[in-house]
Amino acid sequence: MIRLNVNGQDHDVDAEADTPLLYVLRDELGMHGAKFGCGLGQCGACTVMVDGQAVFSCLTPVSVLPGRTVRTIEGLGNNAVRRAFIEEQAAQCGYCIAGMVMRAQALLEHNPHPSEQEIRSAMSVNLCRCGTHMRILAAVRRAAAAMGSAAAVKP
Ligand code: FES
Ligand code: FES
Repeated sequence: MIRLNVNGQDHDVDAEADTPLLYVLRDELGMHGAKFGCGLGQCGACTVMVDGQAVFSCLTPVSVLPGRTVRTIEGLGNNAVRRAFIEEQAAQCGYCIAGMVMRAQALLEHNPHPSEQEIRSAMSVNLCRCGTHMRILAAVRRAAAAMGSAAAVKP
């Protein structure tokens, strides 16, 4: 039995130590926001946050998680980043979007005043097969502005 803290709630899950966090989120906890894309740390569809850092949940074994905090898109509520993605209509099929939102959330929590290059660099880790990258970047800019950093966004 492994205890995970996900979105502020403790969950005791019966999982092998090397089970990827993504599988536990989806199959045990019913949180289907994070998606399985590649399973290899190459697409970012599975991105969640652990102790405030964006991580690939497909590569994160549950054995490293006791004592840490996991956050998923389900825990964000109707926050500025989620609203910005909706307002910019950033999703086409939507498969990548939960991962994009979580990566953007981690970026803006650590760097509330990102430059354009910093936004592009952070978001480049996650892929979108539909090619909505420009809208996704616009959503991150909008979220940064909504979170109070509009005047400080660097060129
Ligand atoms: S499914 Fe985790 S990086 Fe692709
Ligand atoms: S919106 Fe379809 S993969 Fe990004």
